[in-house]
Amino acid sequence: MSKIGVIGGSGLYDISGLRITEDREVETPYGRPSAPYRIGEIEGIPIAFLPRHGQPHSIPPHKINYRANLWGFKSLGVERLISVSATGGINPSLKPGDIVLLDQIIDMTMGARASTFYEADEVVHIDFTEPYCPELRQGVLSAGKKTGIAPVQTGAYICTNGPRLESRAEIKFFSAMGADVVGMTGMPEACLARELEICFSGICLVTNHAAGIAGKKLSAVDVIEKMKEANLRINSLLRETFVLIPAERGCLCKDGLKDARV
Ligand code: HPA
Repeated sequence: MSKIGVIGGSGLYDISGLRITEDREVETPYGRPSAPYRIGEIEGIPIAFLPRHGQPHSIPPHKINYRANLWGFKSLGVERLISVSATGGINPSLKPGDIVLLDQIIDMTMGARASTFYEADEVVHIDFTEPYCPELRQGVLSAGKKTGIAPVQTGAYICTNGPRLESRAEIKFFSAMGADVVGMTGMPEACLARELEICFSGICLVTNHAAGIAGKKLSAVDVIEKMKEANLRINSLLRETFVLIPAERGCLCKDGLKDARV
């Protein structure tokens, strides 16, 4: 079984049941990842965990070294990565506490983040039609059925640069663009994973109605509280997913760079 990576977001700083064997500091050509990787196993399955905001939570979304984080996972032999994050619900059918399994993403970080490993010698255009690995998505959906913690099966994530929350008009605009949830970290994680031919999956918790939807002021404290409340459910979903993922990859993510070089 190949190693599975998990990136934890605001309010998710470890994985329960992970038997840790090592906290590994990793150096990369892009600098230091957010924290040492917690390496261990669950039911014999090798896992590497990284809290993207650092341990303790000290790195804001626009300052995260996404390239170092993703490169670090690759260097540890991670072939599949599950990203967990807090989001604001834009789609009116979503409510705080819902878990959404993402299937699409919209990038509104406007080039403010280093979003590729290919800046100098090579010109590479990865296919990003389906940003999330279908096989990993299937694993999470099956885990949802098995545990009774069924996520909302699809959702488009829109990524802002942050760190501020959005205005009411921005959320109205994002809604018209087809976004279901808003967060600040989904990009460039998703495209960097594809450039490294790592399968990538996005599980997000709706921690609040996005700006202007519930008609009340938003609070970062509430976001963390909501995420902590959901830790048990998210951990159960993750653990079952680890078990249900097929041992060998059968998706196209492993060939993410095929025909991508100009
Ligand atoms: N906007 C952006 N990011 C978030 C939100 C939000 O409303 N909630 C949790 N992360």
